[in-house]
Amino acid sequence: VNLPLKISDVTHEFVSCCLGVDGDPHFIIELPDQNDALCFNIDHKPGTIFNLVRDPPTGIVVNGQIIGDKKVIPGNKMHTYFGRFGIVNEKFGIRLMVSTKEILHNPPYFAFSSMDLQVIKDRSLTVTLRNSVKFLIILHKIWKMHQYHQDYLGFYTLDSHLFSSNVHGLLGQFYHGVNFEVSDLFPGKDPDKQDANMFVKGNELTVTRGWKRDFRQDVKNGEEVPCWFIHNNGTGLLDGVHTDYIVSGLFKTI
Ligand SMILES: *[C@@H]1O[C@H](CO)[C@@H](O)[C@H](O)[C@H]1NC(C)=O
Repeated sequence: VNLPLKISDVTHEFVSCCLGVDGDPHFIIELPDQNDALCFNIDHKPGTIFNLVRDPPTGIVVNGQIIGDKKVIPGNKMHTYFGRFGIVNEKFGIRLMVSTKEILHNPPYFAFSSMDLQVIKDRSLTVTLRNSVKFLIILHKIWKMHQYHQDYLGFYTLDSHLFSSNVHGLLGQFYHGVNFEVSDLFPGKDPDKQDANMFVKGNELTVTRGWKRDFRQDVKNGEEVPCWFIHNNGTGLLDGVHTDYIVSGLFKTI
């Protein structure tokens, strides 16, 4: 593992440009300037819908629904992924549903200025709202006959600068940056990994140096991104707890 030899009380403050969720729902918050990132995982049962972005002033909402493996090897952990996203632009009365199989929008036609969709078949969908909020949804195709896994989706924010200061949600709360400090790298429970103490949002957490894959550039293989992994469903990094972000429908705005 290619670790920095010494990390001494670095304070990061940034406005993130690139954050998203991909894989066994792995959230990545990238810090482009520092070539560093934060990451966490959310474990919850398939079917659950989480609010990712909610911004009342602009009327933009993004929710994601979790799907599981087709089958689980007895005694093994069930892997979960995002399988459906609901994107709402309340101001323009637009609802967009993206699943691994289809893209549906209502109304069937919309003004060019309010939403633009760019589809690359079997690969990705770029959604642009109000010319300046931009999301990328990536389709991960799994071999049809695979015994356990099924197709799933990744979600990335490409442009978030137009969101209001009230923007929230599992991802939205990081659009305007987050302050954290990392110090004291020490051997972790896993002998191949190192832990550190992180101070964030008034909490002191033990985090682990790890890697996550970012699929924005290379949809097939992804790119390894080193990140500070926050344990226990992002507890301490997230405002509240992860279950606070559960919503009852794909287009629900809490
Ligand atoms: C994450 O939360 C779920 C319940 O929402 C719980 O079952 C699971 O044990 C938690 N995982 C960790 C690592 O805290």
